[in-house]
Amino acid sequence: MPTLSDEKRSSQPFEILLDQTTLAKRVTELGKQITKDYAGRKPLLVGVLKGCVVFMSDLMRHIELPLEAEFIFAASYRNGIKREDDVILGGGIDVPIKGRDVLLVEGVVDSARTVSIILHKLRKQEPASLEIVTLLDKPASHRTKVEVKYRGFSIGNEFVIGYGLDNTQMYRNLPFVGRMIDR
Ligand code: IMP
Ligand code: MG
Repeated sequence: MPTLSDEKRSSQPFEILLDQTTLAKRVTELGKQITKDYAGRKPLLVGVLKGCVVFMSDLMRHIELPLEAEFIFAASYRNGIKREDDVILGGGIDVPIKGRDVLLVEGVVDSARTVSIILHKLRKQEPASLEIVTLLDKPASHRTKVEVKYRGFSIGNEFVIGYGLDNTQMYRNLPFVGRMIDR
């Protein structure tokens, strides 16, 4: 007989894509790689809210370097899975980034419009270097050319939630990455 929790789980509109162990292992690896690549430097992490929130808090604890963390707010006006094109940027970075080694931290790169717009904006302030680290990348969905230096996982053109990512602001607190399923 199915238990209540089985029943509850199977009625959810998503299924697990990347579990907690898989995520933790990969985030640790990314932190190690960044630690190595930025040895002797003091990177400035710029998180793209809100999707970066869980990933960045885990990732930065695996970067064994002095670092600074800033945040920028980006919202794409999307009604759940349906996509529209406007990207709204907000907030700002409190420190000058001229001459800094900047690492943009994203939860997911989809069309790559959001990161492109932010990169363009930051580049004008002449950082010494500017790279992207994203937990998830959907390379087949890119609509603008962008170089993603560090990616946790490449995924297909599917809508994912959890570990900071939302569907209409819900599910950010799930400790795993799930894939939304149509029922
Ligand atoms: P892009 O501008 O199309 O690359 O989209 C980036 C933004 O769209 C991300 O910062 C997310 O907020 C949102 N997004 C894109 N794909 C997904 C997804 O699969 N799940 C949740 N949010 C997504
Ligand atoms: Mg969103």
